[in-house]
Amino acid sequence: MRHMLNPLDFSVEEIDRLLSLASDIEHNLPKYAHVCDGKKLATLFYEPSTRTRLSFESAMLSLGGSVLGFSSANSSSAAKGESVSDTIRTISCYADIAAMRHPKEGSALVASQMSSIPVINAGDGGHQHPTQTLTDLMTIRSLAGRLGNMTIGLCGDLKFGRTVHSLINAMVRYPDIRFVLIAPDELRVPSYIREDVLKANHIRFKEVNNLDDAMPELDILYMTRVQRERFFNEEDYIRLKDCYILDKKKMKLAKENMYVLHPLPRVNEISTEVDSDPRAAYFKQVQYGVYVRMALIMTLLEVEKPC
Ligand code: CP
Repeated sequence: MRHMLNPLDFSVEEIDRLLSLASDIEHNLPKYAHVCDGKKLATLFYEPSTRTRLSFESAMLSLGGSVLGFSSANSSSAAKGESVSDTIRTISCYADIAAMRHPKEGSALVASQMSSIPVINAGDGGHQHPTQTLTDLMTIRSLAGRLGNMTIGLCGDLKFGRTVHSLINAMVRYPDIRFVLIAPDELRVPSYIREDVLKANHIRFKEVNNLDDAMPELDILYMTRVQRERFFNEEDYIRLKDCYILDKKKMKLAKENMYVLHPLPRVNEISTEVDSDPRAAYFKQVQYGVYVRMALIMTLLEVEKPC
């Protein structure tokens, strides 16, 4: 039995197979309508979510399975003090696979150690968000046509943004990747990402404050929201929340074939005037998120690809 806790749980070859399966699902959706008949997905969300929870539910329903779960800690027995370990042992009696989001780093790992069904980390605190990374990889591969040989700008809250940490972890395994890390000093990537991931893998990167200066060299711009829920005080959040706002003027500085990604939700960091730019890929990204989650559910449940 396998889990998906971190993008590195799958080799580059396994991720390649999963993305190819997701692409086949995208182009032949009806073929997959019954491959998970009789299977159940449990969504255990201790933190708010729109895309991740509902895309998992949509994915399982599109495969013919069914879903159960809770969408906040308060509506589960966590509110009465139940541990994650006891919850997952219980859920293992009800479902075939579980997707879990929790505010504490490492929660999905703890759950996986007590689970008798595959556990998918749907976001653990400021740590990792591997299924968002699969979504990002599929978006980049589908739109840019490759996953290597590119300069990726990551902009915004690189300290608390778990999607950024997961994406860096995953992208360093592809050839000729260069990062431009665009953040205010207070929101730079954590030192373990800088030292243990970037430097340890001899990845070219620079850390800058200015988005305008970085724009012309980027093949991908990955914007992120300042993560209000992870700040210790509101004053710091208010001071930093609008540190970068991507607008039409900034888009004029970018390559014609650059793509803008964002895990969403957005607050102010991408002006809605950018939405009509053909390089704005963040709502296509949402759609790709369903196909990769369908592929991941099939892979973890060891469901055969239909003919
Ligand atoms: N991208 C993402 O994780 O969105 P939600 O918080 O809405 O699930």
